Amino acid sequence: MDKIKVIGGNTLEGKIYISGAKNAALPLICASLLTEKEVILKNVPKLSDITFLNSLLEFMGLKVSKKEEEYKGTLADTFVYKADEIKELIAPYDFVRKMRASYYVLGPLLARFKHVEFSLPGGCAIGARPIDIHLSSLEQMGATIEIKNGYVVADAPNGLKGANIIFSKASVGATCNILMAASLAQGVTKIENAAKEPEITDLIDLLNKMGAKITGRGTSVLTIEGVSNLYGAVHEVVADRIEAGSYAIAAAITKGRIELINANAEHLQQPLRILEKMGIGIETTNNSIIVDGRNRTFTGADIYTDYYPGFPTDLQAQFMALMTVAEGASLVTESIWENRFMHVPELCRMGANINIHGRASAIVRGVNKLSGAPVMATDLRASFALILAGLIAEGETIVNRVYHLDRGYEKLEEKLKAVGANIERIKESD
Ligand code: EPZ
Repeated sequence: MDKIKVIGGNTLEGKIYISGAKNAALPLICASLLTEKEVILKNVPKLSDITFLNSLLEFMGLKVSKKEEEYKGTLADTFVYKADEIKELIAPYDFVRKMRASYYVLGPLLARFKHVEFSLPGGCAIGARPIDIHLSSLEQMGATIEIKNGYVVADAPNGLKGANIIFSKASVGATCNILMAASLAQGVTKIENAAKEPEITDLIDLLNKMGAKITGRGTSVLTIEGVSNLYGAVHEVVADRIEAGSYAIAAAITKGRIELINANAEHLQQPLRILEKMGIGIETTNNSIIVDGRNRTFTGADIYTDYYPGFPTDLQAQFMALMTVAEGASLVTESIWENRFMHVPELCRMGANINIHGRASAIVRGVNKLSGAPVMATDLRASFALILAGLIAEGETIVNRVYHLDRGYEKLEEKLKAVGANIERIKESD
């Protein structure tokens, strides 16, 4: 299995182009299942999760083609999707167990083809990750749902019907699924306590371009007037706020300066506010965020992860890496996932001083330095946190299980090398 080697101590300076958001691209791709016409997505990140979802959808009969194109000063993939010959309405276990976001096929397939079979994904490293909100909402829209041999078997022989749905939690995945399902349902669906993440508004924008009638964009109450057909559209995937936030910390932790090109500061208000509070310089231009940690000492801060626009759970681990070397103490509270401190023991192996209290809180007391070590993480964002720690640790850090990083950070080594990091991938065969 590939590894990443980082030698700490370099100050990072320069520009990094931020890619399209993985967590936006995944539901956008599945939205192409709602129509037989072509859906064209630009600025799709080159990530294994995207390749993986494409292969599941190709198995179902979706036609997929790709070309690389110039996009806002850099190169990105444009995909053309055409769902005019869908033949399989089943998402098999072997696909779903490798990528939970395969659940985005549920809403579109059930709405358009009135039947779908979907392997239940099971838990994952960061928590139990149930999909009960997705399923009970589809039931409220008239679907019958049975669990058979580990599969969800959903039917709506007379089509889905609009419903008033109140989510018990502002789930990102359920909001996307029900938006897609309701777009082709009969009548009006209202979702209360919907998620408001930028990835949701990106999906609403694509669906509306395809002919859907969705109002309430950016708020927690979404109204969807169902239509009988959706059409093709061309759409650009929103910039990845989590990738941008991760590289912002790379600048801060190495006391460097990085301009994050194509990043959207509006989508990162809480994390940028915390960085400023810690003493890091932040400047925004019309198409970038400049993060400046040069000649600064930074202090600890408290974060509490929450639904958007609260502090994103997907930046918790990376901020914790920064806090390990901040002056003073920081309190980190994780409110979204029940098991998202798996990076803590690994950071401690590098010399960090972190105590976990209960399941949801950790106190980080800043230390003067970290030292390199072989480490591994159980999820994507935790893996990036270990890269960040490696960037300032004395000596060599080897991050194992690189496949996590390949799922969500496009050209990671290339981007970090370009701003001065001493980082390389050690191929399995090396
Ligand atoms: C999305 O996951 C992201 N994944 C996650 O990013 C992110 O951490 C999460 O949203 C929160 O922002 C993708 O977009 C592919 P949720 P999702 O449904 O949609 C509970 C990363 O690193 N819940 O908003 O699966 C759930 O257990 C990944 O890129 C239910 O109880 O998250 C959690 O506590 C990791 N029942 C909370 O809601 C349900 O049916 C929020 O989950 C659904 C969710």
